[in-house]
Amino acid sequence: MKLLLIYYTGTYNTRYLTDRAEKLFTARGHSVERVEIRRGTPPVDPRGFDLIGFGYPIYGFNSPLPFNRYVQSVPIRPGQKFFIYKNSGETLALNNASSRILLRRMHRRGGVFAGEYHFVMPYNIHFAFDRPFVREILDYDEKLLRIMLHCLETETVQSVPSNPLYNAAAAVVSVQKIGGSVNSFFYRVDPEKCMRCMRCVQDCPENNIRIEKGKIRFGHRCDMCMRCSFFCPADAIRIGMLQGWKVNGDYRLAEIASSPLPEKPYIDENSRGFYKCFIRTFRAIDQQYAALFGADDARAAAKSDLPAE
Ligand SMILES: Cc1cc2nc3c(=O)[nH]c(=O)nc-3n(C[C@H](O)[C@H](O)[C@H](O)COP(=O)(O)O)c2cc1C
Repeated sequence: MKLLLIYYTGTYNTRYLTDRAEKLFTARGHSVERVEIRRGTPPVDPRGFDLIGFGYPIYGFNSPLPFNRYVQSVPIRPGQKFFIYKNSGETLALNNASSRILLRRMHRRGGVFAGEYHFVMPYNIHFAFDRPFVREILDYDEKLLRIMLHCLETETVQSVPSNPLYNAAAAVVSVQKIGGSVNSFFYRVDPEKCMRCMRCVQDCPENNIRIEKGKIRFGHRCDMCMRCSFFCPADAIRIGMLQGWKVNGDYRLAEIASSPLPEKPYIDENSRGFYKCFIRTFRAIDQQYAALFGADDARAAAKSDLPAE
């Protein structure tokens, strides 16, 4: 297959998944081209590709606005096959509604749905995940990537079911519509901490950060992607009303992925509170993975036997 992966990323979690997907696809003999969306990325011509993969992080139960805008600019022809690989920090059912705009637009243009896959990735907002939890998440992502590849190769369509209630609720909480432009009035850089490394200026996907008379200034074209504050090596950026939810510091995903899995599963049937939603997600991946490929380790086998909630 000739694949085109079109994705948006703030703090590179989606880029990580795209890297992994590309590796797996090419190892199976498929060819992959990719487009990372930033301001000014020209619309790609999808002619000649057998399959388009759309990747995005979930923002407030929705797909990011720059992602939606870009996809709208891609000239899709009737019959074009596509799939979705999205990711988010938790697996609340409201996240299931996040692809509704993309699906509607692709459907209108005659796109042929080939599947949707929801990956868990560490939060880049709210709070930082522990390293052992991230290690476990990446293990499940690897399994889901293999499931995705298998389903795409065998033309098995897997979907993430939403419903009108979730769709309506997700549309209401689409905070990003005005969130970035309003919140950016309150962004500040601590002059004591800032090292003028210019990383934020160079990396902003909207080219929304500039330096003026030695000071970092923000425009109001913010996607709320968190890249500037997340990767700031001096943790010098205050992100207005979201400051209490700021996460600073690269997870170093590739490094974590190559470290050994923790002895004891981070998520098990006793996980409670925030972590409870992962039990069902991880168990579903274990079961599907074991059914397709056989349980690859003792832990996967044990988990797939967990009783239903
Ligand atoms: C503005 C904003 C809103 C978010 N909203 C959600 C959400 O509704 N649900 C969720 O599970 N994660 C949410 N997240 C977390 C991201 O989806 C998650 O960390 C993702 O992996 C980031 O991917 P990226 O590094 O490619 O940008 C949000 C993150 C941001 C910055």
